[in-house]
Amino acid sequence: MVLHDKIGKRILVAGGAGFIGSQLCDRLLERRDVSLLVCVDNLWTGLADNIAHISDPRFKFELSDIETFQTSERFDEVYHLASPASPPWYMAAPRRTISANLGGALRLLDLLSKGGRFCFFSTSEVYGDPKVSPQPESYRGSVDCTGPRSSYDESKRVTESLLFEERRVNGLDLRVTRLFNVYGPRTRVDDGRAVSNFISQALNGEPLTVYGDGLQTRSWGYVDDIVEGLARYFWRDPIDYAGPLNIGNDREIPVLDVAKYISDIMGGCKIVHEPSPPQDPTNRCPDLTLARKILPGWECEVRYEDGVRMTLEWFRENMAQVDKVRNA
Ligand SMILES: NC(=O)c1ccc[n+]([C@@H]2O[C@H](COP(=O)([O-])OP(=O)(O)OC[C@H]3O[C@@H](n4cnc5c(N)ncnc54)[C@H](O)[C@@H]3O)[C@@H](O)[C@H]2O)c1
Repeated sequence: MVLHDKIGKRILVAGGAGFIGSQLCDRLLERRDVSLLVCVDNLWTGLADNIAHISDPRFKFELSDIETFQTSERFDEVYHLASPASPPWYMAAPRRTISANLGGALRLLDLLSKGGRFCFFSTSEVYGDPKVSPQPESYRGSVDCTGPRSSYDESKRVTESLLFEERRVNGLDLRVTRLFNVYGPRTRVDDGRAVSNFISQALNGEPLTVYGDGLQTRSWGYVDDIVEGLARYFWRDPIDYAGPLNIGNDREIPVLDVAKYISDIMGGCKIVHEPSPPQDPTNRCPDLTLARKILPGWECEVRYEDGVRMTLEWFRENMAQVDKVRNA
């Protein structure tokens, strides 16, 4: 069976069954120059349901750890998203998190065709508990390399280091983005971060749990806006900038405000406070000066009030999946 036309672009998305990865696969399949899209995912934090709707013959799913993924194929573009993004998940499995990020990048470099493009999904967590706000890409961060969040922060940092050194020494065609908090449809119900926690608690008639006083701020980007920025940066716009590039929403919102908003639209929910997780950053806000220069006209357009409503609707419509994950 001929799987693909050799003339078009061959693409690998590691972590493509996840929240952002699956939406990225949808966008990549809109491209007419793509002949093969291989999604490699071990379904650790991703869900087969996220890609179940894809019937495009160019799409192929491979259930595998990216670190050990075997293929004779070489790819023109690789997208490395294989890593949990949520603190409870990566804090419970530090070795696996480091392996996914760094081991995954090492394996993906081997699978890249000569002259191919490597796109890496780094994070605002490389800034640690920042002492400056908003955080520009030039900020070197305040990270505790022996702390409980370090498997994630430091593996993203060392993977950036690996890739920028590959660029310096071997001329790797590189794009690195640092994403700030993203939310929206296809977030796991047990993801463990604020927006999805509040929504699933509200839909189940439970009190909303706010960690700490809730005055810590986050800047939440709705997934459609974020994926639009990523598509422009990674493949659409003529850009010659390897990164790192902050992508996110620069509207800072206290966690407690989100809980109150969800409570309001759900007709009133009890809000309870629990101790903060270790080393929870007090603020997160992207400095988007560079993003606005490199991606002129791109902005997060969805107001969080609208994004939260759309996410809530998606959770409501997908209650069967919500129940399946909860009872697993
Ligand atoms: N969601 C956010 O707010 C956010 C913020 C900053 C950075 N990011 C980064 O974006 C990427 C995607 O995040 P997400 O929110 O979609 O997370 P996600 O957990 O939904 O997706 C990650 C995917 O990677 C897969 N995976 C993990 N380890 C793997 C391995 N070793 N081999 C193969 N597959 C593996 C998981 O099963 C999952 O499908 C991550 O790299 C994350 O660090 C996300």
